[in-house]
Amino acid sequence: MCGIVGILGQTPVAGTIYEALKRLEYRGYDSSGVATLEDGRLTRLRARGKLVNLEKCLRETTLAGTSGIGHTRWATHGVPNETNAHPHFCGPVAVVHNGIIENFRELREEFEAQGCHFETDTDTETVAQIIALAMKDGKTPLEAVREMLGRVRGAFALGILFSGEEDLLIGARNGPPLAVGYGKGEMYLGSDAIALAPLTNSLSYLEDGDWVVMSRESVRFFDENHDEVTRPVTQTSQSAIHIDKGNYRHFMVKEIFEQPEVISHTLANYINPLDGKISIPDLDLDWNGLNRITISACGTAYIAGLVGKYWLEELAQINVDIDVASEFRYRKAPMPQDALALFISQSGETADTLAGLRHCRGHGLKIASIVNVAESTIARESDFTLPTRAGVEVGVASTKAFTCQLGVLACLAIEAGRERGVLDEARVETLLRALETLPGHIHEILRQDAQIEEIAKSLTKSRNILYLGRGTSFPIALEGALKLKEISYIHAEGYAAGELKHGPIALIDEEMPVIVVAPDDALYEKTLSNMQEVAARGGKIILISNARRCDQNANNVWSCIEIPDADTFINPILAALPVQLLAYHTAVHMGTDVDQPRNLAKSVTVE
Ligand code: F6R
Repeated sequence: MCGIVGILGQTPVAGTIYEALKRLEYRGYDSSGVATLEDGRLTRLRARGKLVNLEKCLRETTLAGTSGIGHTRWATHGVPNETNAHPHFCGPVAVVHNGIIENFRELREEFEAQGCHFETDTDTETVAQIIALAMKDGKTPLEAVREMLGRVRGAFALGILFSGEEDLLIGARNGPPLAVGYGKGEMYLGSDAIALAPLTNSLSYLEDGDWVVMSRESVRFFDENHDEVTRPVTQTSQSAIHIDKGNYRHFMVKEIFEQPEVISHTLANYINPLDGKISIPDLDLDWNGLNRITISACGTAYIAGLVGKYWLEELAQINVDIDVASEFRYRKAPMPQDALALFISQSGETADTLAGLRHCRGHGLKIASIVNVAESTIARESDFTLPTRAGVEVGVASTKAFTCQLGVLACLAIEAGRERGVLDEARVETLLRALETLPGHIHEILRQDAQIEEIAKSLTKSRNILYLGRGTSFPIALEGALKLKEISYIHAEGYAAGELKHGPIALIDEEMPVIVVAPDDALYEKTLSNMQEVAARGGKIILISNARRCDQNANNVWSCIEIPDADTFINPILAALPVQLLAYHTAVHMGTDVDQPRNLAKSVTVE
């Protein structure tokens, strides 16, 4: 999940590469580097830590070359120090890599036995070594890359430069995405359209197994059999507009506050504004012929899928299986042909989710995906794409993409319920009108930001925090815990409220905050009993519920966060807001790096 960029330019490219890397920093920020060709010689600058450290190096030392490659790293093999930072050099070869070379150990042993010296602990260096050795044997750069592709196994997107070859840049893709951008007398290579957006809107995406040979005036694509192929040129919709934090302190809080707007954009895609009826464009399915939906996703997107399962089962009376994508593919579950495989992903590039998609495709299933990045690999490889309209999400902790995913899943469940005859028109109408109240209700919750911040301050001293919920509030408990741990580093667990007595209740003492997500719905009384079990053991309860329930429990709980009274159907979307804000403010008060928490990356393109 590193970010890679390459440019064959007309003027010095190091600064432009750095700017493109800034747009890719969401993919990793352990270390970074740039290499350019100056008078045919490879020179590089690398720095440990975030990109600003590379910027300092670039200010102190000029890289004057007009051909270059750059990289921002999320470490897989080798600690994130300067030596392990890309680009990696070996003889005349410079390589940047996103992914994992799975057979690097055996390759390294083989080359070390032949007397090769390895400078780094990375898997990537083997790529440079293979190419360099082949060139030493008299092979051309193209022949050497071809040989390397025959030897490495694993997932990779590569950018390769060669000393003495000012007009040559080679890229290769097996797994992680890679795009070629077309400029005027210039050519670009990048991990995604966002990286290249200020440079060009004309792109070709490499397909899996492709490699590409670029000069300033020409591009040649080859497929996995090394046959020359053509790849279509598309116009990307990614905007070159600078993505900034506006008046907000962090991207995460900006994105939390964007939710009223982006949820309404997302819903507008599925609810016709003229007649208020639901329509799912491009989803051509025989709902009555379907017997099962199989959902796979990772992290927050998986949690959205879990809410979707509750909705689809209740509203459409259809069986739903759900798995974290990293387990799904290895579970060897039966693949009934009357099932729809549904994948959910903000980035549309998550390696585990993509692998699950390809697994289902291999079994002949129909594939639908809910994605935020319209040109992503998952979107392109699906039969039906259901877009979220969350806009670019920069904060590593997903917020607005999550509520937009829920918006799409809600529409999908309503449409499925209508088509399958479970919901009559009146119920459909009620549910749709409930969804339309979301932006207003979300605004109301956001107005409690200062109060939620005060509550969050009290969480900063905790070592462990428990989140409880039942029904569709259970996934929100999971999401609250995930959000908190990823950005504040406080250990947190989400539990189904009814499971409390089967183990986690042993953790409860006066030190333990317990956040109970219990909106005023049919399951409220049950969750209330679990909350009382916590209160009886001295737990410090923060209740997320409606005003009436907050008032009734004022003496039992330590603190309350109100959600507005609405159709209970939309409660999980509303309850997501307080848990996001709680995590955000806790992290800010603890002084962590909210937008780029340690060890994480926004787009996880390795398994
Ligand atoms: C958590 C978070 C991650 C992602 C997960 C899947 O805040 O952002 O758990 O949800 O890595 O990413 P996508 O949705 O891009 O497939």
